Amino acid sequence: MTVNPAANGREPPARPAGSPSPPAWGRPDDGSGPWNAADTLTDHDRLARGGGAARWEPLGMSVTPALDLRGIDKSFGSVKVLHDVAFSAYPGEVTALVGDNGAGKTTLVRCIGGIHPFDAGEFRFEGRPVRVSSPRDATRLGIEIVHQDLALCENLDIVENLFLGREQRRGLALDEDTMEEMARTTLSGLSVRTIGSVRRRISTLSGGQRQTVAIARAVLWDSKVVILDEPAAALGVAQTQQVLEIVRRLADRGLAVVLISHNMNDVFAVSDRIAALYLGRMAAQVSTADVTHRQVVELITSGTSGDLGLGRPGPVR
Ligand SMILES: Nc1ncnc2c1ncn2[C@@H]1O[C@H](COP(=O)(O)OP(=O)(O)OP(=O)(O)O)[C@@H](O)[C@H]1O
Ligand SMILES: [Mg+2]
Repeated sequence: MTVNPAANGREPPARPAGSPSPPAWGRPDDGSGPWNAADTLTDHDRLARGGGAARWEPLGMSVTPALDLRGIDKSFGSVKVLHDVAFSAYPGEVTALVGDNGAGKTTLVRCIGGIHPFDAGEFRFEGRPVRVSSPRDATRLGIEIVHQDLALCENLDIVENLFLGREQRRGLALDEDTMEEMARTTLSGLSVRTIGSVRRRISTLSGGQRQTVAIARAVLWDSKVVILDEPAAALGVAQTQQVLEIVRRLADRGLAVVLISHNMNDVFAVSDRIAALYLGRMAAQVSTADVTHRQVVELITSGTSGDLGLGRPGPVR
């Protein structure tokens, strides 16, 4: 079953002449184009001077991004991993973050999640400039990350994992009934039916079931942004499908979902937007409906594809 048939492996649709370009941004170097480096620099300048509400909205978009990052730099020691990265994620959408091994995807999301500090750049959350300098800051904003390694405790059960560090209490005692009920409601809200008891230990679950527990933990709270770092990397076909359906459902509920994946079929099946990192630079962020698999693979492997990508004059029209 295809999660998002409309976005699956088709050529870009023809757009009537003169119609507005959909949201898409490369990293144009020549300052041309309607929302490119020139706009970014102007807004950066204004922000740098404390000059108020610069907005990073792409042309034609009236929705404020949940996440909006500009000019992000990050180095580990002398190694610069992220260079002037721009990245946005919108409520109600799945944004796929793609790139080759070592491109900087995990580093970017760890910076968003407050695990690594950015060296430079602007971080806006729902339109407001914010400082995220710890995972707690990110959680407070409603940003949750499902890490590549899931970080579940094998010897604890599902409820204990979901509430680890955020246990519900009634007086001094743990409120097991409430936690069990919240666990059941969250899992059934994600249409997870295969797990059975919420008192099962993580060590008895399959890879896909563990993934759904990790996702449930991320959405148990009032999260607005959920970032999944390669959720289907170790899963079989059916389990991947189940996880992708959950990913889509989260976006349909209005969350901004960021999905890191190396699998182009998964990316095209479920995403609304694709952001391609190439050697730590954002090569392009495009609407999924406007690109082909081939173009995305080219962006991943060379940083450019036709009019798109690093050093290109502007977004595809
Ligand atoms: N804590 C760290 N210290 C030093 N270098 C790091 C650290 N974390 C990541 N790097 C380096 O940063 C670069 C980007 O790594 P990152 O894990 O972000 O890539 P990725 O795009 O997630 O790759 P993959 O697809 O393999 O998961 C790599 O060269 C990596 O070696
Ligand atoms: Mg990674």
